[in-house]
Amino acid sequence: MATWSAPGKVFLFGEHAVVYGKPGIAMAIKPRVFVTVRKSKRPARAKSPYIDGCFEAMGVVGSVYINSQIPSSSGLGSSAAVTVATLSAINDEFALNKSREDIANMAFEIEKTVQKGRASPTDTTVSTYGGIVLITGSSRRRLPPQNMHLVIGDSLVSHSTAKMVEQVAELKKTNPGIVDPILDAIEGVGLAAIHHLSNPKELGRYMNMNHALLEAMGVGHPQLSRLVLASRSAGAFGAKITGAGGGGCMVALCAKPVRHRVAQAIQSCDARAIVTGLDTEGARKEKNV
Ligand code: MEV
Repeated sequence: MATWSAPGKVFLFGEHAVVYGKPGIAMAIKPRVFVTVRKSKRPARAKSPYIDGCFEAMGVVGSVYINSQIPSSSGLGSSAAVTVATLSAINDEFALNKSREDIANMAFEIEKTVQKGRASPTDTTVSTYGGIVLITGSSRRRLPPQNMHLVIGDSLVSHSTAKMVEQVAELKKTNPGIVDPILDAIEGVGLAAIHHLSNPKELGRYMNMNHALLEAMGVGHPQLSRLVLASRSAGAFGAKITGAGGGGCMVALCAKPVRHRVAQAIQSCDARAIVTGLDTEGARKEKNV
């Protein structure tokens, strides 16, 4: 029996644009998924295309037990974390000797298949390696770790990443003259923000710009707008949708003393708040439970 865990993630900048080769900046965060894999002749496991994909990719059969602290379908990368932790636990249980890089690549291929070909390697990279990562096309670079105080607001409105990615693709096809410059502007915001990662006040301003651009592409939701505005009014440096939008989560960047006030403001809008920060470890082996 082998148990591995992997962290969730937030996009600080560049979701959706990253699907078109623009830079995306994402960061691993504290809630984790724990996965136990056991060799077994009669495998028991939840029905999930991600888990099926993991066993197919590794060419073995076994049982899986999942314990997730990450709300699913919320934009916090729960499917990538499940995939990375499952691949890592299979690798360990069956002594397959795959490297961390192999796991990241396999996890991306599985996500891409389930998301019907349109996915960036962001979630799977961040979940595998932890830290803050800059993704551009197929290249990835770890950015220096920062002590950021984040509050995530889960709108509790369910959404589908695949559907939102499809919706943007459709809008881009029908209105390239509008959507392409928005994607360029998102790229501009992300590239400028890289130089201010240690300056939360400046970074917050760029997050606000990124939020406006995401709304312009139609991936907003009234409840996400409420949470973003409530966070800013409560003193956050900046707040934006994180992930695919249309529901799911937003993220606010705060000064440490303000984070609980921001969390309260989010909760008073009938949403769930998670006060969190950077996870630098990525996928890790756990003691078997
Ligand atoms: C989803 O968390 C982020 C998107 O950019 C899709 C992807 O990167 O695969 C919308």
